[in-house]
Amino acid sequence: MPPDLTRTRVGIVGGGPAGLMLSHLLARAGIDSVVVELRTREEVEHTHRAGILEQDSVRLLDETGVSDRVLRDGYRHEGIDLAFGGAGHRIDFEALVGASVQLYPQTDVFIDLADARDRDGGDVRYDVNEVGVVDVTSDQPGVLFTDSAGERQEVRCDYLVGADGSRSICRDSFPESQRRQFFREYPFAWFGILCEAPPSAPELIYNHSERGFALISQRTETLQRMYFQCDPHEDVDDWSDDRIWEELQTRVGANGYTLQEGPITSRTVLPFRSFVQEPMRHGNLLLAGDAAHTVPPTGAKGLNLALADVRVLAEELERAISKKDGSLLDSYTERALDRVWKAQHFSYWMTTMLHRPAEASPFDLRRQVGELSSVVSSTAGSTYLAEAYTGWPDRD
Ligand code: DHB
Repeated sequence: MPPDLTRTRVGIVGGGPAGLMLSHLLARAGIDSVVVELRTREEVEHTHRAGILEQDSVRLLDETGVSDRVLRDGYRHEGIDLAFGGAGHRIDFEALVGASVQLYPQTDVFIDLADARDRDGGDVRYDVNEVGVVDVTSDQPGVLFTDSAGERQEVRCDYLVGADGSRSICRDSFPESQRRQFFREYPFAWFGILCEAPPSAPELIYNHSERGFALISQRTETLQRMYFQCDPHEDVDDWSDDRIWEELQTRVGANGYTLQEGPITSRTVLPFRSFVQEPMRHGNLLLAGDAAHTVPPTGAKGLNLALADVRVLAEELERAISKKDGSLLDSYTERALDRVWKAQHFSYWMTTMLHRPAEASPFDLRRQVGELSSVVSSTAGSTYLAEAYTGWPDRD
């Protein structure tokens, strides 16, 4: 049996926030697309990720009609605390750069976009498997897959987008001679928890300590998200609630904070690394989001970068399709990578400045405190942090 054939302008592999936002932006420009996603909608909704939106990410949701909940249920944060050397130091984003961020979890961004695609009659196929991309350098690239009912399907399109996350199959279809990959591994991971407790502070705390980094984030008035640096091979089953609270309290206590405790409802170890693939285009296949680049979580740049990619990509696809000229997509890689490498540097910098290095010497820890102190005591230093954290304005 030949597969069922669907034709569309843009085929999108990956139905996370990047793929759905792209499909949403294209639909608003009158361009149809088909999105295929390996996971069920429920599985994506339950993948906990970061919770900070840059101001341009909020603006993108707002300007395209998906901001009802982010503005109503999200929390505007005008700064963060950097905690080190025995005290907390506030970085005041509003005062330094006139910008803020929104605390709103990635899972909710996904729900809002999935609802918008549903409402607008978007073609999103969840729960598919055996996905493969073909003929990516031809003018009719395709994606083949088995749908949730077990039927073989084929989608043919003018352009194919790989928004299929850090384990992308799309990026592997770039011939090795036509791509470069850049990696950096880190000798630690984050132990992430959700707990039922009131917030411990009005804003997020990025906490340096001799025992390692801790991040005190939030979700709602009654649910909190926290992380602490751990070994990548840490087993969550070795950590009782009491042991987790003791570790967190010791780390933040070194800088004068006390946490509000409560039952821990979720615990996961998040390994992390830096990765970039260049270029982000091969023939008529384009990569967006984690498929092209991964950042360590410190600073919450992953989702924001993915949204920035697809905003640029939607604009370029719209031009290429309306002018029937694929060469107009040539500038995508360069435009996207400018922000990607700035974010790679920022995430790397925040990570290495705040985490306890492997086999840290007393010198290493004192030097980090010197670095943190030069950031908070200097307008130039804290302005760089504020600018990067709230997001660089678009160059174009
Ligand atoms: C969150 C995660 C981050 O990596 C970060 O830098 C800030 C907040 C979060 O999950 O809330």
